[in-house]
Amino acid sequence: MDIPDLAGRGLVLLGCGKMGSALLEGWLAGGLPASAVSALEPNPSPRLEALAREGLRLNDYPPEPPGIAVVAVKPQSMGAALPRLAGYGGGGTLFVSIAAGTPIRALEEAFGAGTPIVRAMPNTPAAIGRGMTALVGNDAAGEEGMRVAETLMAAVGETARLETEAQMDAVTAVSGSGPAYVFLMIEALAAAGEAEGLAPDLALRLARATVAGAARLAEAPDREPSRLRADVTSPGGTTAAALEMLMDEGDGLTPLMRRAVAAAAARSRALAG
Ligand SMILES: NC(=O)c1ccc[n+]([C@@H]2O[C@H](COP(=O)([O-])OP(=O)(O)OC[C@H]3O[C@@H](n4cnc5c(N)ncnc54)[C@H](OP(=O)(O)O)[C@@H]3O)[C@@H](O)[C@H]2O)c1
Repeated sequence: MDIPDLAGRGLVLLGCGKMGSALLEGWLAGGLPASAVSALEPNPSPRLEALAREGLRLNDYPPEPPGIAVVAVKPQSMGAALPRLAGYGGGGTLFVSIAAGTPIRALEEAFGAGTPIVRAMPNTPAAIGRGMTALVGNDAAGEEGMRVAETLMAAVGETARLETEAQMDAVTAVSGSGPAYVFLMIEALAAAGEAEGLAPDLALRLARATVAGAARLAEAPDREPSRLRADVTSPGGTTAAALEMLMDEGDGLTPLMRRAVAAAAARSRALAG
């Protein structure tokens, strides 16, 4: 299934902020006509207004119930926003929600039992088409609903299907929040470079290019990160000296990351209530 296959269904996008607009751009680039989309957004960007001149319905409902409704408002806006789509509950419309911390059962309560719902968790690199999205659906969504949702989210990067919704807390903690950990890694590496005498600009440039380049190297599925690491570590060399600190079993990066991800997952569980 490709994006153009979804054109006939009609799509309502509730919330067109950072993530909603990243998705919209991905769908348009993938061949979805602007005229197939209705965007409900209180603060439309100039780009959204330009798209409205090309046929996108802005703050206007489609004449028929849409095949797909994508929920992309903040969790705290849900209470006010979801009633705007309540008329589409109960069967014909597939709901895809990207809201962090809002469980499927909360959406079923809003839209009614038997409503096909897929919950998806993207991350910020979706804005440049390099996102990672995990998805899980209810029984009503079925295989067809999952395929539609995967097609929508694949427009902004990779997708992975979960076995249970309970895994969403760990996903949120790893790939949802993960980009921030990597940004911190760049900041920390640059600060350490400064502490060793580099000018701030140069330290940041080195750190940024190193993380980006290493990430690119690690991307190929046949390149195990542990192998890549071993390949650049000569016994008794400089990398080995640093890794001795970073790989300390008590206070190295692995136990620290374990605690950080556990804290994020616990927070995700608490937000879901
Ligand atoms: N950004 C990420 O990395 C990321 C990753 C995973 C999941 N998510 C999820 O994606 C969702 C959106 O996040 P975001 O970063 O895109 O937030 P955002 O930039 O704040 O976008 C949300 C948009 O929804 C609009 N909105 C608020 N109330 C509305 C209503 N009643 N009807 C229609 N639109 C309404 C907001 O307008 P106002 O500005 O007027 O409030 C805003 O433009 C969140 O639930 C978040 O958990 C985001």
